[in-house]
Amino acid sequence: MTASTPLNPTAPPLVELAGVSKTYGDVAALRGADLVVRRGELLAIVGPSGSGKSTMLNIMGTLDRPTAGLVRIDGHDVARLTDRELSALRAGTIGFVFQHFHLAPGVPALDSVADGLLYSGRPRGERRRLAERALRRVGLGHRLQHEPHQLSGGEKQRVAIARAVLGDPPLLLADEPTGALDSRSGTVVLELLHELHESGTTVVVITHDRDIAASLPREVRVKDGRIEHDSATPDTVSVSLVREEAVR
Ligand SMILES: Nc1ncnc2c1ncn2[C@@H]1O[C@H](COP(=O)(O)OP(=O)(O)OP(=O)(O)O)[C@@H](O)[C@H]1O
Ligand SMILES: [Mg+2]
Repeated sequence: MTASTPLNPTAPPLVELAGVSKTYGDVAALRGADLVVRRGELLAIVGPSGSGKSTMLNIMGTLDRPTAGLVRIDGHDVARLTDRELSALRAGTIGFVFQHFHLAPGVPALDSVADGLLYSGRPRGERRRLAERALRRVGLGHRLQHEPHQLSGGEKQRVAIARAVLGDPPLLLADEPTGALDSRSGTVVLELLHELHESGTTVVVITHDRDIAASLPREVRVKDGRIEHDSATPDTVSVSLVREEAVR
């Protein structure tokens, strides 16, 4: 499958990073990253091990705060939000998928997915109905009661994706979603990400796989904590606006 939707320069930015750095002790994991992701994009973040990809994704996902720089998600400067506001933004805006699935052992697929709505205020019956629908959407309608040890790697990742997209978040962040899979299961997972993108979700995928990265509409290469190449036309207007705000 090839890339489809072209970048729409008028779509509102969903993720804005301006001069974002992150240090852990004496390790500079990110050094001044500028990146704008607009609604409707599907992009790959690639780079060698230790180059800062997960650090960048965790900061985009508001799971981690930068040491310096500005982060805006869906227009909100995350540094100005209280913990409660940040949790609400994350819950309503961002879905996460990780390399090793993060499924609790012994929990059937349906419950794993439904638990993603535990704090949504929806009644249990509705949570389970939505979970079943999400599992059918990823082609797992026949595996609702299977526990993680009864599922293949590719199926586990599809459960994780169903959980991530259950509340229809506009942004899906995936850290090496195919890293633990054989190439066939990896292809299925990738096709699923393409489908989600086509249905309107903005998708950011970290990958080591150069072929996968090259097959996506946009590729951002990270090296030594810096963005060394971005296949999209630089979004200078938006980045400079974010910068102006950062120095205010
Ligand atoms: N919590 C932490 N404490 C100290 N150093 C960290 C921490 N998290 C990451 N690092 C360091 O920051 C650098 C970037 O890490 P990061 O996880 O972002 O790399 P990556 O590009 O995702 O690598 P990989 O492809 O291996 O997953 C690495 O040198 C790593 O050792
Ligand atoms: Mg990583």
